[in-house]
Amino acid sequence: PRVGIIVVAAGSGTRLGAGAPKGFVGIDGHTILRHALARVFAASAAQVVVVAPSRREGDALSEALEAAQDRRDLVTVVAGGETRQASVAAGLAALWGDVEVVLIHDAARALTPPEVFERVRDAVDSGADGAIPVLPVVDTIKRVAGEDIVGVVDRSELAAAQTPQGFRRDVLDAAYLRATRDFTDDAALVADAGHRVVAVPGHPLAFKITTPADLDRARGLVAEAPL
Ligand code: C5P
Repeated sequence: PRVGIIVVAAGSGTRLGAGAPKGFVGIDGHTILRHALARVFAASAAQVVVVAPSRREGDALSEALEAAQDRRDLVTVVAGGETRQASVAAGLAALWGDVEVVLIHDAARALTPPEVFERVRDAVDSGADGAIPVLPVVDTIKRVAGEDIVGVVDRSELAAAQTPQGFRRDVLDAAYLRATRDFTDDAALVADAGHRVVAVPGHPLAFKITTPADLDRARGLVAEAPL
């Protein structure tokens, strides 16, 4: 396939406090990883690399094969690293064949609708080096130093970044090769290498399951629309 999707699920899930790596925490009868992958496979017939916590590759493969249904040939599972960036690098190294566009997705954004994948892929197909989904910032943002409010930030200039983040594969490979420090997301790493990354509309359902309250929200949403 022309498109490869790297789903990073190697985080520990410490902030969720559910006693298991986050991807393996259940939302309903299905895990966070399973929900994420169902929407990944619904989005397109892409090659999918799942980056799992080390020693949980087998469990991740079971989830992925179930989600892939009749496209089991598209699935690869590899072990992740200490940081998200290291996990993405492991996923990149596992891509095979003639993939030209790579989407990188947090498994923790388990309810991201397929249309977001399409918007990101379309933007890269239309010529951008990279594209990321963003949402407007709804809160008023303050610059603070300790307890002092030292400035206002113009909210209209700000956006919250989501995933999947998509890139031309050659751009992404080159940017990862030259990266010598940690970046907060793939878009920042690619922009630092001098490439143009554009924004496309994100989606409220692409929120990241991070805290127990996020998991409750996901449970409510999935109860209304199960897999
Ligand atoms: O920790 P956070 O929720 O921001 O992580 C975002 C995504 O990156 C999650 O899907 C998590 O599983 C993944 N991750 C990873 N390897 C790490 C850290 C995070 O694959 N070392």
